[in-house]
Amino acid sequence: MDDTDRSDGLEHLYSETVRETMDGSVYGAWRSIRDADAVPLSFGFPYPDSFPNGELLSAAESLFEAEGDCALQYGGGEHADALSTVIVDRARDRGIDCTTAEIHVTNGATNAIDTVCQTFLDPGDTVFVEAPTFMGALRLFRNYDVDIEGFDVDGDGLDVDAVADALAERDAAGEPLPTLLYTIPNFHNPTGVTLSAERRERLLELAETYDFVILEDDPYGQLRYDGAEPPPIKALDGSGRAVRVNTFSKTIAPGIRTGWIVAEESTIEQFDRVNAGGEPSFTRGLITSYAADGRLERAVDKLCVGYEERRDRMLESLETRMPPGTTWSEPDGGFFVWVEFPEGIDAEELLPDAIDAGVTYLPGSFFYADDRGTRRARISFSHVSPPEIDEGIEALASAVRAATPTVEADD
Ligand SMILES: Cc1ncc(COP(=O)(O)O)c(C=O)c1O
Repeated sequence: MDDTDRSDGLEHLYSETVRETMDGSVYGAWRSIRDADAVPLSFGFPYPDSFPNGELLSAAESLFEAEGDCALQYGGGEHADALSTVIVDRARDRGIDCTTAEIHVTNGATNAIDTVCQTFLDPGDTVFVEAPTFMGALRLFRNYDVDIEGFDVDGDGLDVDAVADALAERDAAGEPLPTLLYTIPNFHNPTGVTLSAERRERLLELAETYDFVILEDDPYGQLRYDGAEPPPIKALDGSGRAVRVNTFSKTIAPGIRTGWIVAEESTIEQFDRVNAGGEPSFTRGLITSYAADGRLERAVDKLCVGYEERRDRMLESLETRMPPGTTWSEPDGGFFVWVEFPEGIDAEELLPDAIDAGVTYLPGSFFYADDRGTRRARISFSHVSPPEIDEGIEALASAVRAATPTVEADD
């Protein structure tokens, strides 16, 4: 028996990476912001009425009738197998020419990103991300003990020139080049901006020159309310550099916990190996059954109507209610608006007062790997009703007004 101090419970047996990251922020800590009496603009969740409960029930009945016990068995039955075809058909509609051998089904996009990390990342590797970026992805990258470098985002998405400069500098200095660059090209979480087509092309060129993988995460691309979609990065990818992650969380429901990866066949074989036995079987079959007869497409059209109304309401409400000095993004789709408060306001410090005033949001600092974003906040129009949006923005405006130092007039 060794003389290890065991007074810490099982902590001394945790992996080195977990011990190094365990005191850092925890994904989900934001749930503590939940407050029964405040309008939850913090929630990047779909609105409850958007869930197709009745259709899923009848899809489940059809599935059990067609497949009996197979529907719930490891691997599932024919419907589960057919999901890859459902995905390929819809990927083709968006310009991605792939086969079922280039699809790996996962338990949602989070599990898909984790699968990509498991496959490509070693401790000490470098990952490039947008700054800000989806905090769930930051949490996953931290689990792999990698160095994270964040690059600014402007109205056209990730600042690809800054990425190109950093790559050239690292290369010239003999410093490590990134293994992965993670991007959310459409209606980015948290800013709502979309990466321009030119920047998508440029990123692919850089990935080829400097030998890294582009991890394209696109949960919101189909939820577009204005304008035309730039081609997905994967659709432009002639060299197999892009690994594309997607999910049914926003087009059906998050509880479905089913997502997928599109990549080269040889890479998909590695994902299959890494996740062997882990693919959902029942929900794969259920989604195939649900998607029959154009039901999924009709549901997405309906979702766009519901979210567009909410997006419009939030932008109008910000325009009419927010005090001068506050600015915000105007997304063409997705769930999020990114707000910048007037000089002197710290979004984390303002939050308790905002909750007292009747609204929750996510402070911008949650979305950075470093200490940026203090004046920013993500507000989401996806979860609440249009009248609640007005109520929430009114509360936000009053909290900002109360916190803004008043400028004394000279005369
Ligand atoms: C950019 C991004 N990627 C992934 C996810 C998670 O997707 P899933 O529910 O499929 O795990 C989200 C959810 O908020 C997201 O915003």
